[in-house]
Amino acid sequence: MIEVKHLTKYYGRTLAVDDISFYIDAGSVVGFLGPNGAGKTTTLRMLTCFMPATSGSATVADYDVFSQSLQVRSRVGYMPENVPLYPEMRVREYLMFRAALRGLGHKRRSSAVDRAAERCWLAKPEDMMRRRIDQLSRGYRQRVGLADCLLHEPEVLVLDEPTIGLDPAQVREMRNLIRSLGENHTVILSSHILAEVEQICSRLVIISGGRIVAQGTSSELRRQVSGPSRVIVELKGGRPEQMAASVADVGGVLDVQHTRAGNWTRLTVQCAEEADLRQDVAALVTAKGYQLRELRREIGSLEDFFVQMTYEQTTRD
Ligand SMILES: Nc1ncnc2c1ncn2[C@@H]1O[C@H](COP(=O)(O)OP(=O)(O)OP(=O)(O)O)[C@@H](O)[C@H]1O
Ligand SMILES: [Mg+2]
Repeated sequence: MIEVKHLTKYYGRTLAVDDISFYIDAGSVVGFLGPNGAGKTTTLRMLTCFMPATSGSATVADYDVFSQSLQVRSRVGYMPENVPLYPEMRVREYLMFRAALRGLGHKRRSSAVDRAAERCWLAKPEDMMRRRIDQLSRGYRQRVGLADCLLHEPEVLVLDEPTIGLDPAQVREMRNLIRSLGENHTVILSSHILAEVEQICSRLVIISGGRIVAQGTSSELRRQVSGPSRVIVELKGGRPEQMAASVADVGGVLDVQHTRAGNWTRLTVQCAEEADLRQDVAALVTAKGYQLRELRREIGSLEDFFVQMTYEQTTRD
């Protein structure tokens, strides 16, 4: 449905998007996750024909975003970072105006507006469609922005930080709304909140410093994260170096570091990928007659992974 190949964007001498490639299947909900300045908005703007690329190519629904922008625009609903609305207009009036801009005939306009309003929970309370936009709360304004991008019934929705600036209740509503839209649309959304992307999206693309640093389903990423695991052991009964050396001989152990913890020794045992060596370490400790007061496994969380991936990228540049 969406195919991006070697997309690159320079703003003057600033490299904002650096040779990114990815593919998105029809019907999936994909989260673009990255810290501030990662290049999310820039990528989404290129995909929605708002900005040319410096190099590379992208197709949406098999149309080229640079040479077939009319076809692409008619299939994409784009909600930008700051939804531009006309504050003095009333909700219905604004949506009717936007529907006219999208080329919907007079008859279709009214039903398109009603349908989008219903979808985005703008139909209630009853006077909502008659309210002035500058008198709406931020959450309702976001809903108007979302209704706007549904008017022409696009197949693809591109939502740039759709929950930013909303209060927790509105965030929850917006996430539910996007999830329900995901049932019959292909959705790309951007966010810098890992938990949000995990809740809404079936796939994650992690971007940092203009590059894709990881992508996959959250369980695929989790599997990568849980790669090298660690076992923490606290014990006594021998010299620290000697205890560390005997644990290092356990099969699957890559490295052992020792530190003091009062009159106990703490060993940090790096294990080969995904190995859980607690049982082997416990057997060794018993065989050697050491005393044991702690034995636990530590696995990096997806949050650690995200911070690590994005931090490594930032420090590399
Ligand atoms: N119009 C512009 N002119 C020059 N540089 C820009 C412009 N827009 C963005 N940039 C730069 O490009 C890089 C990527 O910006 P972009 O807005 O795509 O990031 P983002 O991931 O959307 O960040 P945020 O989470 O803050 O919205 C940044 O270094 C930014 O300063
Ligand atoms: Mg942005």
